[in-house]
Amino acid sequence: MNQSNESLRTLAVDIGGSGIKVMVLDTKGNPISDRQRLKTPNPAKPKDVIDTILTLAKEQEFDRVSVGFPGVVQNGLIKTAVNLDDDWLQYDLATSLTQLLTKPVKVANDADIQGFGAISGQGVELVITLGTGFGSALFINGRLVPNLEMGHHPFRKGETYEEQLGRATLDKEGVKKWNNRLQKAIAHLGHLFNYDILYIGGGETDNIKFDLPSNAKIIPNILGLLGGIKLWN
Ligand code: BGC
Repeated sequence: MNQSNESLRTLAVDIGGSGIKVMVLDTKGNPISDRQRLKTPNPAKPKDVIDTILTLAKEQEFDRVSVGFPGVVQNGLIKTAVNLDDDWLQYDLATSLTQLLTKPVKVANDADIQGFGAISGQGVELVITLGTGFGSALFINGRLVPNLEMGHHPFRKGETYEEQLGRATLDKEGVKKWNNRLQKAIAHLGHLFNYDILYIGGGETDNIKFDLPSNAKIIPNILGLLGGIKLWN
């Protein structure tokens, strides 16, 4: 690459259960393109999702790529993809995209990236995301504990956080029940992590109807893209 680090453009990609979003960021992480979105294909097999990313990327100019993936990502390999498709298991998304886009690509968990966009870097900071799935990320003085998967941890009544608070349940059980459960979840997480601050992201934050504790804060969805710059720092 013969471009100075000062002018590198990063294509941030956020793969969600319902939409795939992209935006180009400058080296400081400021947006230099509009956000573009296409529906997540169904079924969301690797080839279909990658084709969607290629369609979105074709419209943009960039030098490197950060991808937020809705599952565990370890040493570049996809380890879980509960809300996409089992064909993702063991898939090397970074290598595939690097070959197809001919640009360096880094992939991390979507909630971890959203967290990078939100945190102050001080103390214990917990992030949860409320969308198709239940995402979570933990940071200690700005250092990520990668792939915290609260979503699939038991919560109550024999169900996990995601089973009790994911979008499918919100649609089925309604906003009131979901809010009661979310209040309980926040209390549980507070006792478990004793965080200094809890950030709550994801599209379903619009449904929150109660006053959050003083150490909890709703964060905008765009951080799931903006946080992508941190993968290169
Ligand atoms: C996945 C997490 C992801 C979350 C939000 C969960 O089902 O296991 O890795 O962060 O959904 O997309």
